[in-house]
Amino acid sequence: MKKKTKFVCQECGYESAKWMGKCPGCQTWNSMVEEMERAKPATRGVFVHSSSNTISKPVPITTIATSQEPRIVTDLSEFNRVLGSGIVKGSLVLIGGDPGIGKSTLLLQVSSQLALRQYKVLYISGEESVKQTKLRADRLHISSHELYVLAETDLEYIHQAIEEVQPDFVVIDSIQTIYRAEIASAPGSVSQVRECTGELMRIAKTKGIAIFIVGHVTKEGAIAGPRILEHMVDTVLYFEGERHHTYRILRAVSNQMLLNN
Ligand SMILES: Nc1ncnc2c1ncn2[C@@H]1O[C@H](COP(=O)(O)OP(=O)(O)OP(=O)(O)O)[C@@H](O)[C@H]1O
Ligand SMILES: [Mg+2]
Ligand SMILES: [Zn+2]
Repeated sequence: MKKKTKFVCQECGYESAKWMGKCPGCQTWNSMVEEMERAKPATRGVFVHSSSNTISKPVPITTIATSQEPRIVTDLSEFNRVLGSGIVKGSLVLIGGDPGIGKSTLLLQVSSQLALRQYKVLYISGEESVKQTKLRADRLHISSHELYVLAETDLEYIHQAIEEVQPDFVVIDSIQTIYRAEIASAPGSVSQVRECTGELMRIAKTKGIAIFIVGHVTKEGAIAGPRILEHMVDTVLYFEGERHHTYRILRAVSNQMLLNN
């Protein structure tokens, strides 16, 4: 069987059957990259969606309770503030920043604080082994029974781990390393990033878990790969600063603002 390919803009996700020098979607030059069409079906059994376990039914709007879910608050007051007074359950948050700016460190610190407050936390690294994560935690004097670590890049296994651990808070470090086996494109490509983010969004929403995903930033300052990623999540945070300076700035970019630009 001949594999079908398409050309996808790595900036905005625009798709085309033929290659083009300039993307009609976002006017970026040389951003179209050949990617494989989803060719092979899932081979390793059925990908179990938690959403398919429960059938949604229409309900009268008057019967829906709207009591505000309490936000999860950390000991990092600035972190809470930038999120609008804490972490919202069921939300998907993208945290972007230059290499080495301290994304993994910050999220491991947040993870440990939540774990010490008896929240169950699953920290998944696609970039480091569990031993490397443990060494980082030791350097930060972090330890808690409620903090689970996993080194994995296959989203199917990540989903299984989430089902097993049933965490309140999940960290994915980084989205560019995660892949779905049934998609032929390489990890970090628009197709993979888009599919994986969509799946993580479904998991966050159906299970009421707060999921933080790390996104690398390109030289141009955009989250590596697709700009579309920023529109798929609930909140975008940028971590900025000078590598060797003591202070780092965490900046929130709401989706609404991005859309109005
Ligand atoms: N807030 C901070 N202040 C000073 N140094 C920090 C801070 N956060 C992290 N560092 C140090 O900066 C280095 C890089 O941190 P870290 O690995 O967390 O960055 P990263 O953004 O995850 O990098 P990468 O993009 O490579 O994954 C580490 O040596 C860490 O100890
Ligand atoms: Mg890192
Ligand atoms: Zn484009």
